[in-house]
Amino acid sequence: MAPYKHAIVIGASSGIGAEITRQLASSGCRVAAVARRIDRLEQLAEEHKGNVLPVEHDVRNYYAVPELFQQITQRLNGLDLVVYAAGVMPEVGLHEYCFEKDRAMVEVNFLAAIAWMNEAASRFENTKHGTIVAIGSVAGDRGRAGQPVYNATKAGLTTYMEALRNRLGSYGVRVVTVKPGPTQTEMTEKLHLKGAMAPSTAASLILAKSQSSGEHYLKPTHAVAFAIIRAIPSWLFQKLKI
Ligand SMILES: NC(=O)c1ccc[n+]([C@@H]2O[C@H](COP(=O)([O-])OP(=O)(O)OC[C@H]3O[C@@H](n4cnc5c(N)ncnc54)[C@H](OP(=O)(O)O)[C@@H]3O)[C@@H](O)[C@H]2O)c1
Repeated sequence: MAPYKHAIVIGASSGIGAEITRQLASSGCRVAAVARRIDRLEQLAEEHKGNVLPVEHDVRNYYAVPELFQQITQRLNGLDLVVYAAGVMPEVGLHEYCFEKDRAMVEVNFLAAIAWMNEAASRFENTKHGTIVAIGSVAGDRGRAGQPVYNATKAGLTTYMEALRNRLGSYGVRVVTVKPGPTQTEMTEKLHLKGAMAPSTAASLILAKSQSSGEHYLKPTHAVAFAIIRAIPSWLFQKLKI
């Protein structure tokens, strides 16, 4: 486990973010756990007395982030790691074009990630150390008929993180994008996914991958499969429906 001492996890109330928070807190790290469902965060704080600081926040409240970020780092008394795990993926029908759902995905998965990551990047550029992790997805590797905007937000997030990596690499800051495949969480519970990864497994793999800058799949088989999927020409991808 990574020797992190002070961390912020945004999207810490369930699923992968909650598991990352648990694992960090169990390793002795003080974690600010950020999300809207304060009852879930307080439960995490109860489980890990002293190591979890619950912070109620809706990530769509972008303009609150700079001050909140400063308050949290002061309360933690330091910062090594920021993980952006917040995300939404509403059900979208194949013939549905719903701007409200689309906007929610852009706001939570992408725009708010920028609001938080900009703060982390600015701080770590000055301190010349730190790790920034964004949870992307294998879903961001191609545009699929089923989830056009979810796919696009994850692709946008991955590109933004690549650019941060190119800015911050020479400052000793790690900038990490992880791309999980199907994972059993509240986000996917209605999909009844077969063979999905447990969130605790995803969390421990993500923390292990956080040790090196770059883009990481969580399974070697995904790295191979998605290298092939990314290389398929668009006209053929459309026919294959994969
Ligand atoms: N599950 C998968 O198969 C899978 C695969 C690849 C990538 N991912 C990505 O992994 C990340 C975690 O998702 P998950 O699967 O663990 O889903 P999850 O259990 O539904 O967790 C989503 C988290 O995002 C937070 N969130 C959503 N809207 C928010 C808002 N407006 N303000 C603050 N926090 C908000 C939720 O907290 P509150 O509702 O309490 O605010 C919750 O903590 C997401 O980025 C997701 O896209 C998931």
